[in-house]
Amino acid sequence: MSIKINTSTTWVGEVDWEIRRFHGEEYSTYRGTTYNSYLVKDKKVALIDTVWQPFAKEFISNLIKEIDLSKIDYIIANHAEIDHSGGLPELMKEIPDTPIYCTKNGLKSFKGHYHKDWNFKTVKTGDKLSLGEKDLIFIEARMLHWPDSMFCYLTGDNTLFSNDAFGQHYATEFLFNDLVDTEELYQEAIKYYANILTPFSGLVEGKINELLKLKLPVDMICPSHGVVWRKDPLQIVKKYLEWSKDYKENQITIIYDTMWNGTRKMAEIITQGIKEVNKKVTIKLFNSARSDKNTIITEIFKSKAILVASPTINKGILSSTAAILEQIKGLSFKNKKAASFGCYGWSGEGIKVITEELKKAGFEIINEGIKILWNPDNIGIDQCKKFGNKIGKIS
Ligand code: FEO
Repeated sequence: MSIKINTSTTWVGEVDWEIRRFHGEEYSTYRGTTYNSYLVKDKKVALIDTVWQPFAKEFISNLIKEIDLSKIDYIIANHAEIDHSGGLPELMKEIPDTPIYCTKNGLKSFKGHYHKDWNFKTVKTGDKLSLGEKDLIFIEARMLHWPDSMFCYLTGDNTLFSNDAFGQHYATEFLFNDLVDTEELYQEAIKYYANILTPFSGLVEGKINELLKLKLPVDMICPSHGVVWRKDPLQIVKKYLEWSKDYKENQITIIYDTMWNGTRKMAEIITQGIKEVNKKVTIKLFNSARSDKNTIITEIFKSKAILVASPTINKGILSSTAAILEQIKGLSFKNKKAASFGCYGWSGEGIKVITEELKKAGFEIINEGIKILWNPDNIGIDQCKKFGNKIGKIS
């Protein structure tokens, strides 16, 4: 399948309806994904990115229907990650001498992954490649989200090929933002940002401001996953700017694990305590052992505060709590508050362990947390309510 985007550009990617786990097992993709590759025809022909390796043969056989491969003059490799470069080994068997344009860091990554001496040409921000009537202008996008990441911009058509930035893991045959369900689209876009781009928010803001200063007209943004932003394309750029500035909504997310329901009960009573003093705040509860971790991360991204809870076990915490704390730490959330709670039977170190991890993750600790011996009785229930009341009053 191919889809014409405009007179010069055709989408020649692959739709992956089946994938449910991406980056190994790290990222849930319940709506599938797409690997977007674009063929730009002018006097010269450029192919921008390829697809994930399992789709390589299908990609080539579809591409052949669109163009005689020997007529591809340039390959633009905006990013070396396998989901975009996995089609290269098959393609290079067919057109081994075709130059591959990438960044200096891209060159290292490609060699590291494929161990091939393909005809690489390294480019940097501002470099131009003439296609005849139109030019491709390269813009390095270091750490968005790999050191090698790059955008390119097609003059004349005013199209920005942004690779992972502005993308979503969202399988669709419709390809354009105005043809899909907007709510679904934004759920996937914010999940993508929260789980992948949060640590690089400072760089996102800087790169967008750099792009805006260039005052390049943008009629279309073509990312490497999900839909092409053709209707009001800058809407996603504005959203990224908003998300990059320590984003938070009026939301508190409670993440707990539980063995015999004591900590679950605490979570629910604390929720009541928050609601008693704050009717407007959104509260979401997740059992970390039973919930999708990427959904939890997305909800943390939207929160002004989080509560993390586990009963104490072997002087520590349950494994699902430890796992989500590890993930939170890596994402470097900023300007968010946190506290811990949990029940215990004898030693009760759990809340201290959680609080220490939350501190290391950069959260502002609201208080030392609350622990309850065994299951909460009436006194415990009252303590949890009061704890919730305090949490409900935070700004
Ligand atoms: Fe979609 Fe960074 O790969």
